[in-house]
Amino acid sequence: MRESIARVEATRPARLQAGPPPAMTPAEREKVLAEFHPDYKAEKKRALSIGVSAGNVVPSEVADMLEAHLLVDPAKIDLSSVDYDVDVLIIGGGGAGTVAAIFAHQEGIPAENILIVTKLRHGDCNSTMAQGGIQAADRPEDSPAIHYIDVMGGGHYANKPELVQAMVDDAPEIIRWHEELGVMYDKENGEYMEAHGGGTSRKRMHSCKDYTGKAIFNPIRDEARNLGIPTLEFSPVIELLLDGEGKAAGAITYNLETGEYRVIRAKATVLATGGFGRMHIQKFPTTNHYGATADGLVIAYRAGANLLDMDSVQYHPTGVAYPSAILGQLATEKLRSQGAMPINADGEVFVYPLEPRDVEAAAIIRECWSREKGVETVSGVRGVWLDTPMIDEIHGEGTLKDWLAAMWTMWHRHGIDITKDPALVYPTLHYQNGGVEIEADGETSVPGLFAGGEVEGGVHGKNRLMGNSLLGYNVFGRRAGIAAAKWAKSKKNKIKTLSLQHAVDFEQQLIDAGIETDIQSPMLLPDYRSKSVLERSLGRFL
Ligand code: FUM
Repeated sequence: MRESIARVEATRPARLQAGPPPAMTPAEREKVLAEFHPDYKAEKKRALSIGVSAGNVVPSEVADMLEAHLLVDPAKIDLSSVDYDVDVLIIGGGGAGTVAAIFAHQEGIPAENILIVTKLRHGDCNSTMAQGGIQAADRPEDSPAIHYIDVMGGGHYANKPELVQAMVDDAPEIIRWHEELGVMYDKENGEYMEAHGGGTSRKRMHSCKDYTGKAIFNPIRDEARNLGIPTLEFSPVIELLLDGEGKAAGAITYNLETGEYRVIRAKATVLATGGFGRMHIQKFPTTNHYGATADGLVIAYRAGANLLDMDSVQYHPTGVAYPSAILGQLATEKLRSQGAMPINADGEVFVYPLEPRDVEAAAIIRECWSREKGVETVSGVRGVWLDTPMIDEIHGEGTLKDWLAAMWTMWHRHGIDITKDPALVYPTLHYQNGGVEIEADGETSVPGLFAGGEVEGGVHGKNRLMGNSLLGYNVFGRRAGIAAAKWAKSKKNKIKTLSLQHAVDFEQQLIDAGIETDIQSPMLLPDYRSKSVLERSLGRFL
């Protein structure tokens, strides 16, 4: 490693002088994606055989989880005994769920008639782990229209246009709301400091150093608590309830501490369960929170919700490749946005640092496995250098430690000073691009079921750009919360019965389709005891 680092140091002065190489042409991007991006490996996916999205091609791991047995026999749940009876049930205590709860309340639902249920603790989620920033077009040289074009281009134009429009239009208002809540965005002379992210044509990334997710989520959670919105922790939902006519009517939770099931009746339900990083698709490590196990997809699919863009997975270009104790953790795009270049083992720059994420990730994979210019660690993991010392060279000594304090600390704990030495990185599973299809108000194809945040599909198309996940959870959490409140107050919500018949029917569909599996879902928590875990952390990813 030291020899390779010496080659990186040798080329640094010239690279600092020359600046980054040009971005790829559209044709070059298509080529590197087709040849090296994990999403383009047809053999790693399969079509769903049952359910409303049958025929849709999804990662095999996701298909296996969707086409799995129920966790609990519905006959064992007593639906006549309702434990909680609320107007709006929010499933998920992360960013989208908490925002939805606040806005359901603002829309007129009393706090005590709202219930957040969450698998772990309130705030154990990807939203708090986000680092780099949140996009909002609020500068004179920018506009929601330009933001829209960037999002559509990044998503390969597969995005639902009305969702993208909703997101970019609401963005400046979301930042204003955050200001009211007390979010401390980075500012200089009273103006927001805004930066580029991969695939952005304007600087519109608002940040709170490199712990933006936490800096935004904490005041949001405080607001929900101050409003008195109740939260049930350690209570994952294992199945949605319908009303016998196909409308959402609540959910069944499983208490992780006591092992008890609880029946929740709700006039409207918001799904905000986050993504699927902990499924380690194609054996990739992940940046994701421990609870990111696709539970929302599973329960919504059984209830008849349509899925969208589930063939596409986001691999963040720069996960940690060394040391192995923090393998796959996020090395924020902000490092590249502040000047750090990806560099190969020979000290050469091989890619424009801020390509859209899928392109950047594919270029790094090509460098490591096709051009054989990666650096191999003792564990057999390959990576490329992220030349982090460039940041202080460009912006002045102390910048990295100040502006990227979480990054500096993460490596420093393992004896690496990234102001002096480059960091070894490789793509890591970061985000679920698709999900449960929504309309612009967060409505899903199941009446009375709304969705917001990473579990929803349609906003990001085939590739989300940096800073649009924090934005997306705020925009669609808010819209879903408002729409759920309106639904709960309307005459459409009459719940005559509570039923798990859809789950029974789904089990029957498995049998009718001849699907043989011993998997039960939702997964709830990842299993790190099996042989495949050792393969994943010690073996090659591809
Ligand atoms: O690189 C990052 O900081 C990640 C940001 C995002 O996924 O939006």
